Amino acid sequence: METQRDGFASSVGAFTATVASAVGLGNIWKFPYLAGVNGGAAFVLTYLLAVALVGLPILVAEHAIGRKMRQDAVASYARVVPKEGFWAVIGYAGIVAAFFIMAFYSDVAGWVFSYIPKSLIAAIRGTAPLESKAFISLSSGTWEPLLWQAGVVVFISIIVLAGVSKGIERATKLTMPILLGLLILCDIRALTLPGAFKGVQFLFEPDFSKLSGAVILSALGLAFFKLSLGMGTMTTYGSYMPHTVRLVPNASRVALADTLVSILAGLAIFPAVFAFGFEPASGPSLLFISIPAVFSKMPLGNYFTVLFFLLSALAATGAMISLIEVPVAWLSGKMNLKRPTAVLITATGILVLGLPATLSLGLWADVKLFNMGFFDLLDYIQQNLLLPLGGLAIALVAGWRLPKAEFLRELETAEPNKPWYIPVLYTFIKFIAPALIILVFLNGFGVFGK
Ligand code: PHE
Repeated sequence: METQRDGFASSVGAFTATVASAVGLGNIWKFPYLAGVNGGAAFVLTYLLAVALVGLPILVAEHAIGRKMRQDAVASYARVVPKEGFWAVIGYAGIVAAFFIMAFYSDVAGWVFSYIPKSLIAAIRGTAPLESKAFISLSSGTWEPLLWQAGVVVFISIIVLAGVSKGIERATKLTMPILLGLLILCDIRALTLPGAFKGVQFLFEPDFSKLSGAVILSALGLAFFKLSLGMGTMTTYGSYMPHTVRLVPNASRVALADTLVSILAGLAIFPAVFAFGFEPASGPSLLFISIPAVFSKMPLGNYFTVLFFLLSALAATGAMISLIEVPVAWLSGKMNLKRPTAVLITATGILVLGLPATLSLGLWADVKLFNMGFFDLLDYIQQNLLLPLGGLAIALVAGWRLPKAEFLRELETAEPNKPWYIPVLYTFIKFIAPALIILVFLNGFGVFGK
């Protein structure tokens, strides 16, 4: 039944595609804005701990289960423990999460894509840089953000239609190194500004009074979002991995590379924010308001702005490919649909959900559910509920329901001799990660008092 399954052609391809899923607007847009809103270094430190203690173990668990099952996420979790088909709920919740994320992610990606021509025109004409006014009129508009969003969804659909190894691998092998190079260039610019050091302090000098249960839960949720965990993306990617991939070293490199990109993005944004006296806590608009203004005050700055948004667009593309792949793999696997049909259904679903998300920042700003607009609500539910709970369930399956020997066999594949880190990681999957998720979750919802 599965002999026709497509896959990553090499272990290098598996690494770059996984990095391409992890690195995205999460690094460049979400990480800086959440760090800014939550007071800086204490949040960053909590986030780093969450990646190391929870994110990495769950990443390994997802890859192992995916490669063992070689199916889409729903089918993988439905069958991974015989007679316990209910674990399929992880896969279904993951499909819901993929739609929720894509609904607002494609809106933000639309802003990013639109900033490429916008800043290019400003650069060529030599006019003033894009100001916060321009961003507000874009994000709270009606037709403009909707058209950009639709354009992004169509663009991603076309890439995904090209197939797994051909489309994804080819695209990501090309974009990742460019992205890193551009980011480092931006860092050098930002760090050599007078007054840049304040931004470095903001990112690295923790003030622990800034931490609260909600902030810690948000850091944990960001770790899941960042590494594309808890919703089947990494299970699906695991299912495309060849047996030449050593899962633990591969996942460690992915987590390290992804975190490095976030830090590099933070180092491009915060020194500049402080040097020019912007508000670090300005929220989702941080990237769009500060970057153009900041770069514009430097020689060739308008061109750096173009580069920066090009880089962000490339990152967002890799992440969206992997998001869309979850429902597409399910629809074309279990539901037996042709790939183009599966992509069409997925893209339509995203746009249906994405429309109210986008309009909730403008036309429908007054419509609130649980005190939040639709955009914020979808983001809140996926980050603070769906992904952490999905991750918890995955850790429980991997650590407590799968026979240990069977699970370890997957981690030991392609390892020449049994390395020390495998039992360590197993302990994290079985005990530490689930315990931390439960604690942070309960604490985040105020169960232990304020
Ligand atoms: N990790 C991606 C980012 O940081 C977002 C993402 C989440 C992708 C979940 C896939 C699954 O932008």
